[in-house]
Amino acid sequence: MSRPAATHVSRVGVLGTGTIGGAWALHFLRMGMDVVAYDPGPQSKEKLLAMVDHIWPTMEKLGLRPGASRDRLSFVDSLEALATQVEVIQESTPEVLDAKRALFAQLDKLAPAEVVIISSTSGFAMSDMTTDVSGHPERFVVGHPFNPPYLVPFCEVCGGKQTSQDVVDWTTDFYEAVEKKVAKMTQELPGFIGNRLQEALWREALHMVKNKECSVEDIDKAIAYGPGLRWAIMGHCLTYHLGGGQGGMAHLLDHFEESLEAPWTRLKAPKLTPELKKDMVDGCLSQANGASINDLIQERDDCLIRIMQTLEEYRQEHGIKR
Ligand SMILES: NC(=O)c1ccc[n+]([C@@H]2O[C@H](COP(=O)([O-])OP(=O)(O)OC[C@H]3O[C@@H](n4cnc5c(N)ncnc54)[C@H](O)[C@@H]3O)[C@@H](O)[C@H]2O)c1
Repeated sequence: MSRPAATHVSRVGVLGTGTIGGAWALHFLRMGMDVVAYDPGPQSKEKLLAMVDHIWPTMEKLGLRPGASRDRLSFVDSLEALATQVEVIQESTPEVLDAKRALFAQLDKLAPAEVVIISSTSGFAMSDMTTDVSGHPERFVVGHPFNPPYLVPFCEVCGGKQTSQDVVDWTTDFYEAVEKKVAKMTQELPGFIGNRLQEALWREALHMVKNKECSVEDIDKAIAYGPGLRWAIMGHCLTYHLGGGQGGMAHLLDHFEESLEAPWTRLKAPKLTPELKKDMVDGCLSQANGASINDLIQERDDCLIRIMQTLEEYRQEHGIKR
């Protein structure tokens, strides 16, 4: 059997059906695929069915692909049955390195060589998880989602030292075919991209709370009513590109260079070398893709208003006071 084209996968294995595996199952079902699930945990089948009962209306609201049905979910009772029935496996078992190592060694012996095995790990490097894989380490790759993967589009695809470029490319194409926004990473980095960013903010938040410098509520308010609103539209770098006014990122870097060195943050800032400045400016211009500063301001402001209206409407409807 050969590997299917990444755009024509029809049968996905979901290994581990907790918070993330269950959410992946829902996403693949919505995308019109057969989903085969395996989880040896207590009442795992009942728990996943309850999750599907709860979330399926949201999937319907988002829109089902042709042929999508919750009835296309099935369960198997062994790793072997899962490994031999599917075209690709999304692994979402607990974040315990030794357990993933042992599981991958076993799975490698059971799954045909063409089956790509993707791990949802939040931070382990694939090179560390495949130390005991002797057969086909080249088909193991990280595909790190954000919770819940049936809604949040971003995923990071990252191979290990032994992962083939073909598998990294195939996984990226597969995810894009199921409506994910993918960062295809070229090297292993603990925490990948998204969690490194979240963790930087998280460390600052914990420092501030520990030192009684502000409240937890203020931290959440600062994000939800401040930069978080903008980040949903165009991320951190392009948002700052607009912070430089008509001079964009180039002006912002010159303007705030000294304050970057100020001890506001407990994290060490990198030295702003000419090379780093150039990379930042080039990255912003490339992302802007020809859009002018005014075009981007228009986009940012229009979208900000819509997001704020939507949030407000939802909070009023549900009596949420925050
Ligand atoms: N929770 C998050 O926000 C989040 C986000 C992104 C990635 N992840 C990653 O996803 C993975 C799963 O995390 P989670 O939060 O869903 O955990 P969870 O505890 O909710 O689910 C883990 C599931 O794996 C099952 N399991 C245990 N051993 C197994 C085995 N040998 N074979 C099959 N199933 C097995 C358990 O019974 C359980 O149902 C972790 O690697 C985690 O780092 C989690």
